[in-house]
Amino acid sequence: MVGSTLLLPLILSTFLIHHLSVAKVSIHREKTVLSLNKFQRKQHSGIPNCSSQKSRRENGATILEMKHRDYCSRPVVDWNEMLQKRLISDEIQVRSFQSRIKYAVYSGMEDLSNSQIPLTLGSKLQTLNYIVTVELGGLNVTVIVDTGSDLTWVQCQPCKLCYNQRNRLFNPLKSPSYKSVSCDSPTCQSLQFATGNSGICSGNSPPICNYFISYGDGSYTHGDLSSDRLHLGTARVDNFVFGCGRNNRGLFGKASGLMGLGRSDLSLVSQTNTLFGGVFSYCLPSTDDSASGSLILGDNSSVYKNSSPISYTRMIPNPQLSNFYLANLTGISIGGVELQGPGFGNSGNEILVDSGTVITRLSPSVYRALKDEFVKQFSGFPSVHGFSILDTCFNLSGYKEVNIPTMTLHFEGDAELNVDVTGIFYFVKTDASQVCLAIASLSYEDEIAIIGNYQQRNIRVVYDTKASKLGFAKETCSFM
Ligand SMILES: *[C@@H]1O[C@H](CO)[C@@H](O)[C@H](O)[C@H]1NC(C)=O
Ligand SMILES: *[C@@H]1O[C@H](CO)[C@@H](O)[C@H](O)[C@H]1NC(C)=O
Ligand SMILES: *[C@@H]1O[C@H](CO)[C@@H](O)[C@H](O)[C@H]1NC(C)=O
Ligand SMILES: *[C@@H]1O[C@H](CO)[C@@H](O)[C@H](O)[C@H]1NC(C)=O
Ligand SMILES: *[C@@H]1O[C@H](CO)[C@@H](O)[C@H](O)[C@H]1NC(C)=O
Repeated sequence: MVGSTLLLPLILSTFLIHHLSVAKVSIHREKTVLSLNKFQRKQHSGIPNCSSQKSRRENGATILEMKHRDYCSRPVVDWNEMLQKRLISDEIQVRSFQSRIKYAVYSGMEDLSNSQIPLTLGSKLQTLNYIVTVELGGLNVTVIVDTGSDLTWVQCQPCKLCYNQRNRLFNPLKSPSYKSVSCDSPTCQSLQFATGNSGICSGNSPPICNYFISYGDGSYTHGDLSSDRLHLGTARVDNFVFGCGRNNRGLFGKASGLMGLGRSDLSLVSQTNTLFGGVFSYCLPSTDDSASGSLILGDNSSVYKNSSPISYTRMIPNPQLSNFYLANLTGISIGGVELQGPGFGNSGNEILVDSGTVITRLSPSVYRALKDEFVKQFSGFPSVHGFSILDTCFNLSGYKEVNIPTMTLHFEGDAELNVDVTGIFYFVKTDASQVCLAIASLSYEDEIAIIGNYQQRNIRVVYDTKASKLGFAKETCSFM
């Protein structure tokens, strides 16, 4: 008797589990159609044109055309090598970033008064992918867009060391509105927080403020902290503070410099606060070369071309990562099935939203759960060996289109990011026959997760620093 009363619940629960798992299989999973021929890469020929990104103004917002950086570099000769390199540098960048965070947290514990150590992303330059054109001191400059750093800078004449760039070099002598920033100004002091290095005084009287930014992999920019008139489309910013870089080295493509959209006082977002209300957004196009997206500065959401409502979540404050944009990831679903795992549940996960990292990184346990569920639902396709940091790969040769499970990231406040169908697979072969799930695992559970730009394709990503919230909506990116 005793035995059977104990057994009954066991049998019942076994039955239930069995029953549920059978029921689960018959539930219709959410799938989305991926047309593979759209991703067959064509060797683009002709002279790349780097300086023709357009802009326009609409309802108080400034809209800048955004292009992939490859548009600005020489045509790709070996795609496979290029794709490999891009993932390798993405990984170097993430590794260097994670070790800096560890260092910052550690030194923060030793000296609490010094815990606000600013971090700049490390050797990420190979992977900073998107460019816009703006006018600085009367000259069009094409700059790489980076939400992970703060100071905007361009290469500047006379150069001690400048890499090749497509546009003409900025010449301070040709701009009547150019000024250098003096060494004793508060602006010079804010360099410490924006770049991790304090200003250095040099020159005659009054001494001028020199900045230095190092990007971990040996890349750097060094020069005079300056100000000049900036035109973002038709919007004018007088006395915009930027770096006039006289000594620059690194993998900046053929761009003139970099636009910093981070959170500190010197970032473009902070400096244009009265003009644009501390709000910007972008839509990153899904293909590399000629496709356009947009960077929108301004807080009137009527100018977005989103096709789903904007779903907002709170920005998470973190003193160690105060220059970055963080959200609280509360769950992930694959094909409508919510992943279960120690990484989720009541606590949630801090996750960094970055325009510069390519591939999304998740903690090992969360990644494992995601991979298992994905492979379960994307069954019947032959798997093949991994590619660089990506370990979930399939051979799709012979298919024109496939149904792939949908992927949704859930955030605090019931916000969602529905990953676009173009952001789920990384195309390893130029003929699109081999693909890999475009998500990678972090090395350790305690590292910070990152939403990379691959998973932000065809999404309007809104950064509202005034209301301290991040928004996501579906949008087919284009400049028009
Ligand atoms: C900058 O580029 C825009 C668009 O290509 C063009 O209309 C404008 O005249 C250019 N400005 C300068 C100063 O070259
Ligand atoms: C690049 O675009 C600009 C503006 O549209 C144009 O004036 C220029 O001739 C183009 N250059 C090349 C090399 O195509
Ligand atoms: C946004 O633009 C629309 C259309 O011009 C206008 O009606 C609305 O007042 C604007 N909203 C804000 C907050 O400026
Ligand atoms: C993330 O959200 C969850 C669920 O709302 C909450 O319990 C948790 O405290 C949040 N985490 C952070 C870091 O705010
Ligand atoms: C993929 O499948 C095709 C056709 O079945 C085969 O010829 C090819 O060798 C496979 N590729 C890999 C990398 O396994």
